[in-house]
Amino acid sequence: MSQKPIRLLLVGTGSMAENHVLHFRKIPGVDVVAGVDITEERVRAFCQLHKIPKYFTDLDEAVAWGEFDAVTNVTPDVVHHPTVMKLLESKKPILCEKPLAPSYPLALEMTEAAKRAGVVAMVNLRYRELPVMQMARALVEDGLVGDIRHIDAAYLQSWLVGTHWGDWRTEERWLWRLSGAHGSRGVLGDVGIHILDFASYVADQFPTSVHCRLKTFGKAEGDRIGAYGLDANDSFVMSCEFDGGAVGVVHASRWMTGYANAMKLAVFGTRGALEIWFESEKMGLRVCAGRDVHTQTWRDVDSPPVPNTYQSFIDAVRAGETLEPSFRRAAELQHVLDLAFESDRLGTALPVERAPSVDTTKADAGVGARPATVLAEK
Ligand SMILES: NC(=O)c1ccc[n+]([C@@H]2O[C@H](COP(=O)([O-])OP(=O)(O)OC[C@H]3O[C@@H](n4cnc5c(N)ncnc54)[C@H](O)[C@@H]3O)[C@@H](O)[C@H]2O)c1
Repeated sequence: MSQKPIRLLLVGTGSMAENHVLHFRKIPGVDVVAGVDITEERVRAFCQLHKIPKYFTDLDEAVAWGEFDAVTNVTPDVVHHPTVMKLLESKKPILCEKPLAPSYPLALEMTEAAKRAGVVAMVNLRYRELPVMQMARALVEDGLVGDIRHIDAAYLQSWLVGTHWGDWRTEERWLWRLSGAHGSRGVLGDVGIHILDFASYVADQFPTSVHCRLKTFGKAEGDRIGAYGLDANDSFVMSCEFDGGAVGVVHASRWMTGYANAMKLAVFGTRGALEIWFESEKMGLRVCAGRDVHTQTWRDVDSPPVPNTYQSFIDAVRAGETLEPSFRRAAELQHVLDLAFESDRLGTALPVERAPSVDTTKADAGVGARPATVLAEK
């Protein structure tokens, strides 16, 4: 594949932006040429620190300047929709942070606009591209675990308990995540899309019904800090049925003391089981299958490196073809998340009809699912 140089525009220079700059700059031929943020002090300091030659405080000015080949959008959740719709006018490929939008109708509008613009449009659902996830998916495809009966997925954070990521009581980057008026849909809206994505990707089964319970715990006097009403959910528990016949539990919380940013996924089938753990960029995969099912013996499995989402996006830009995880995939997952909110409100399970207005036929023919290459070699 050609090493065509790619000049990236970075939109949003808050906490996650550094991750984008560090990962993109490791890719040969890629550079971040300008940053955009509405907070001048922040964008100036960020661009100075990371030696990014140009900065803007207005996205329109950056688009009018136009000297970039692709965009990475790292703005807050509620800002993805307006910024992506504006950026699509310039017909440049976009990697957008997750969740694509705070609701399915907005995510669908973005997906359809990207299709009309004919550009590569991907979402940073980065956990599915961890080596352990890719290896686990290949093992499932190879039939190692048989027919999957049960899925157990958890996403564990504790920034409401510990100060390891700063103080949520005083820092804007945490306060907006706790406030519906600032576009947050709580932990379900924040990491729900990650956990649904990697669980359904590894198991190769999509939810067909969802029953969700949300909980917002009291955290401050009057449930408010300054302009931030603290009404977004902190914990969710969800039970799902899947189209391959499995049932499962999917849950997450910001109160999971002892874990900064951890994930656990277990998949149990008629012939075997596999378990993945991930914590702060360390990870492992183990399986219990074959004769080991009679003795409950688990064996660690090595997972060779695979391209991460940043590399996938650049590969997609160079090839001119969207790879997964695409806007379309993120919109389908957002449909499930919207139903989960509704299920909590109604106190009942709801069926998931497969996002009917997402055209899953033709456009997806142009979406190259990254083949689980690793797995072929195992
Ligand atoms: N994929 C992942 O693993 C992962 C991890 C962390 C965060 N995220 C996502 O990344 C996004 C950003 O999160 P963060 O922690 O960096 O938030 P943050 O609040 O630290 O940073 C967001 C930045 O965007 C800026 N901004 C707001 N409106 C803007 C606009 N209209 N134009 C340009 N800039 C604007 C803010 O001033 C701020 O500097 C969120 O959507 C979050 O869900 C993803």
